Order: sequence, then structure tokens, then C-alpha cells
Amino acid sequence: MKIFHNKSELSHHLSNLRVNKGSVGFVPTMGALHNGHLSLVTKGLSENDYIVVSIFVNPTQFDNPEDLVKYPRTLEADVSLLKTVSDKTIIVYAPSVEDIYTDTVKSQSFRFDGLEHEMEGAFRDGHFNGVGTIVKRLFEIVKPNRAYFGEKDFQQLQIIKKLVELHRMPVEVIGCPIHRAEDGLAMSSRNTRLTKHHRTAAPFIYKTLKAAKVKFGTKSAKNVTEWVEKQFKKQELLKLEYFIIADSKTLKPVKRKSTKKTYRAFIAVYAGDVRLIDNIALN
Ligand code: PAF
Repeated sequence: MKIFHNKSELSHHLSNLRVNKGSVGFVPTMGALHNGHLSLVTKGLSENDYIVVSIFVNPTQFDNPEDLVKYPRTLEADVSLLKTVSDKTIIVYAPSVEDIYTDTVKSQSFRFDGLEHEMEGAFRDGHFNGVGTIVKRLFEIVKPNRAYFGEKDFQQLQIIKKLVELHRMPVEVIGCPIHRAEDGLAMSSRNTRLTKHHRTAAPFIYKTLKAAKVKFGTKSAKNVTEWVEKQFKKQELLKLEYFIIADSKTLKPVKRKSTKKTYRAFIAVYAGDVRLIDNIALN
């Protein structure tokens, strides 16, 4: 497996592959890979000749410095896991902060037609400027034909589609279904940081999302939201940050339900000091 830490060497290698008309898929990650990531890589490999997996904990998208320090970094294990999928057609790009940010570790400022103001944007200051900055930079370096993102970060996926549209980038952005553990917990690199007790409590998040979906069939968004908030008050180990039912396209919170629109419920929960997010399509 080829592993690059330097963008010029990676670009040079990818140009050689393109001479032979090889198509390049891309899975950007922050490492601590799990089966959710592997499903993106596998899908990417079925649609492209090569897959680049970037492993980079991007400092500019963290609003909380402690979260950045504690974010798991497991490059060796990540590479071993990727080798179980394919040794020949996966290319790893694991840059240093300097390789990406050269002089200043700073975000560019973006507008994403208002998508950036909702939910994660409202609760994590500067988060989507950081995501926009790194994804744009990585797309410029890798120049992929297709890029794959999980729907666990559904808002991020919509924002990246908008980034590509607004900046006319020649890449197809493909969203892939959420991968869950057997007990329903959405797979996330952050799950490895959960204590045993918090890990046992965490499947309540998806259980509640599924129940909220059923309730949304007959009840208003306000009713469902109040019900969810009440359920979390009874949970000792989980602290609800937000539960929001929003229009799947605009991500604006729903005021009055319409049969012509599609909706999604979004949730952010603290399990101890680990922040978990999840979402579910409602109709
Ligand atoms: O979803 C992630 O892991 C990150 O936000 C991404 C897209 C790799 C950018 O750092």
C-alpha cells in the first residue's frame, strides 16, 4: 500500500495513474477508522480504479481544543485495516498540519446558502468553515472523480455538495448510509472514547430516533421534540444538546408539516465528555 505524507509526492503519483486513464475515488477521514469508513472505501473501490483515503485530524474544524487533543490518532491500525480491504488499489494520504496549512492554521470563510447556520453550525462555532477549508484543499490536491461521505454527518454532506456547486469543482459527491453497531449506535471514531457505562447507554440515542420517527407520523414536530426532550431528562448518563426536526433540503427547523416535503430528525448528545451525533429520515 502506498502511503504519502507529502502533497507534492501524492499529486505526482496520482498524475501518473491518470495518464493511464485510471479513475480516482476519495474518502476523506480523520482516522480511527471503523466499518463505516470501510463501507465508503468498498463502495468507492466498486466505482473507481483507485481510492485515496486521507487521514488527517483537521485542527480548524474543532471548536473545543480539548476535543482536538483527545481525538483518537491510530495511523498504524488504520493502515492495517485498509490493507484488509485492498493493498494495491488504496492510496493513503496522511499529511502533517504543515503540509496542509503551510503558514497559518486558519479557516477560510464560507457561505453555504444558510446551511451553515443550522444545528452543528449553531452549536460548534466555526466548524463548517474548518470543514469547508480542509475539504476544498483536499479536493484540490487529490482531484478525485468521486468523493464519498457518510450520512451520519448529514449536514456536512449537504454543505460539501454546496461547496462543490458554488466553487464549480469537478467532483461527484456521494452520500452513503449510516453504518450502525448491532445495538443501533451509529459508528463513529469518537465511540472508542466512551466509557463502558456510556457505551451501554448510547444506543438509547438511535432507539429514541426510531420512536420519534413513528410519532412524527401522527404528531407535530413540536410534540415530538418535547417528547424526546422528556425522554432524555430521565437518562442519567446522556445529556441532550439538541433534537431538531428539519427540512432535509434547507435544514431549516420545521414549523408546519407539509406532505410535499421530506424531513429528518437530527440529534446531538453528550455521553460524558464525548459528543455524539445521529439523524434519521422521517418520511
Ligand atoms: O467527517 C470527517 O471525518 C471530517 O469532517 C472530514 C470530512 C474528513 C474533514 O476533516
